This record gives sequence, structure tokens and C-alpha cells, in this order.
Amino acid sequence: MARIIAFFNQKGGTAKTTSTLNVAAALAERGRSVLAIDLDPQASLTMATGIDIASLELSVYDLLLDESLDLGRTIQPTTIPGVRLVPSHPDLAAAELELLNVLERERQLAYRLTAADLSRFDYVLIDSPPALNVLSVNILVAAGELVIPIEPHPLSLMVLRRLFDTVNRVRRLNPSLRVVGFLPTKVHHSSRLAADMLATLADEFPDLALLPSVPLSVKGAESAAERTSILQYMPRSAVAAAYREVGAWLEAASLPPALDRDRVSLHV
Ligand SMILES: Nc1ncnc2c1ncn2[C@@H]1O[C@H](COP(=O)(O)OP(=O)(O)O)[C@@H](O)[C@H]1O
Ligand SMILES: [Mg+2]
Repeated sequence: MARIIAFFNQKGGTAKTTSTLNVAAALAERGRSVLAIDLDPQASLTMATGIDIASLELSVYDLLLDESLDLGRTIQPTTIPGVRLVPSHPDLAAAELELLNVLERERQLAYRLTAADLSRFDYVLIDSPPALNVLSVNILVAAGELVIPIEPHPLSLMVLRRLFDTVNRVRRLNPSLRVVGFLPTKVHHSSRLAADMLATLADEFPDLALLPSVPLSVKGAESAAERTSILQYMPRSAVAAAYREVGAWLEAASLPPALDRDRVSLHV
């Protein structure tokens, strides 16, 4: 069965999209079959994987709002071999209002994923919007695992309380959701801020893993403009190497966690 992993943080700019894209590429490089789902109305992941939004007939917007639509019909090929995508569309911004009238609006993505035949995929990776809204809650209800990309920034730790409050509230709808851990991104190896953040995370969240860090690099910003992954655009860069490590880490972390690991303690 495909593992469904969401890259989730309501703060913008924490490299959710960059991480979804490059972890997808890293897992595909390891021979895995990956489906990425873009749940951000800004559609950055969709554009970064080489898809022309203007020519799309169906997107994740249609998937969420049309219960008869099969997920398979929304899947697009991407510029990354082994990675396919359910694209986003700017229309998705309206989905929040439109879902207000839908019964069980928080479960729509989960229902569509459950109804779909995902047997040809090893991984489903979900890119999240920089918000805590009905789209994010749909992600939390549909995902099996959560990875929290986090950048060294004074606000990064402050947003975690609301993030985990939301996660804990959603547990009622998705009791098996597992918070895997933090993915430190944009880490400058000699920065005091980064070292302090990593120490604080290890201290405050002893039950959560710290995944391999991704270094700060302008290459990160460039590859999206190239409409492909850093693993292809700059295969020998430090960022590509880091995302390969993250991919390997996630594959090794495939065992189900002990039950008590699912409880997130809050001391932030
Ligand atoms: N390792 C990195 N080093 C430097 N810049 C990065 C790195 N990873 C991502 N970025 C840049 O940071 C910005 C935010 O990344 P993005 O993936 O769009 O974040 P999010 O999806 O969380 O909003 C983008 O301009 C991106 O190119
Ligand atoms: Mg994004």
C-alpha cells in the first residue's frame, strides 16, 4: 500500500514545495513510483514540475468538489521520471468556500484517495498550503505521515503550537496519523540560529525525529525556474545530496511507530 506523506507547515517559505518536489525525485531515483499532490492554490509544485496550468482540464480542485471524479483522471506526467502529479489550479482558492456546503468537508481528499487505485504507487507525497484551513485539514485527515519542513527563523518555533493543536484536533478524524518529525531546511551550517533551532527542537520534541538537514543554497531557488527537481538540474549539488539522504531516511523509517510515539507533547 502506498505511504501517504504530507509536507506540512502553515508557515510560508519553509521549503514545503521544494521538499515535496525533491523528495519525490529522490524516491523516484531509488526506483520508487511516486504520486505528488499539489494542495496549494498557488500551484508552485505544479509549475515546478513542468505543467502548463492554462491547459489543464482537471485539477485537485475538481477532485475535491466532485465526488464522482476518479483521482486517476486528474493525474499528469511530470518532467521527473517516475513522478506523476495531481496538479493544483488557482481555482483551488475558492474551494474553501465551496466546501462549506459539502457534508464531511474535511474528509473529501481522504475519500478520494481511498476510492482510487493507488496500487502502482509506492508513495503519495502531498504539498500543503501555507495556511491552517479546510484544505490543510483535508490533508491531515488523508495523510498517514506528516513531515514538518522548518527553516531557521525566529518565528519557526512559534507557529508549532497552533500546528500541533490542529493536528491533535484532527486525530479524532484520523487516529493513525503519525507525525514523523522535522525536516530542517535552508540550514546554514555555521549559523547560530540554525544550531539553536535544532537544539530546541530536539529538546522540546524528544519523540519526533530530526530528518537530515537541507543546506541553504541559491540552487534551491533556481531549480523551480528550471521546472524540474534539483536532483536533475544540479545532481551533484549539496542540496541534491541532502534530499537523497532524506529519501533514504524516509525509506528506512517505514516501520510502524510504537503507539506512544503518536502522542505529540507540547512545551513550546
Ligand atoms: N535549500 C534552500 N536554500 C535556499 N533557498 C531555498 C532552499 N529551499 C527552498 N528555497 C527557496 O525558499 C523559498 C520558499 O521555498 P518553498 O519550497 O516555496 O516554500 P513553501 O512551499 O514552504 O512556501 C523559495 O524561493 C525556494 O526557492
Ligand atoms: Mg509551497
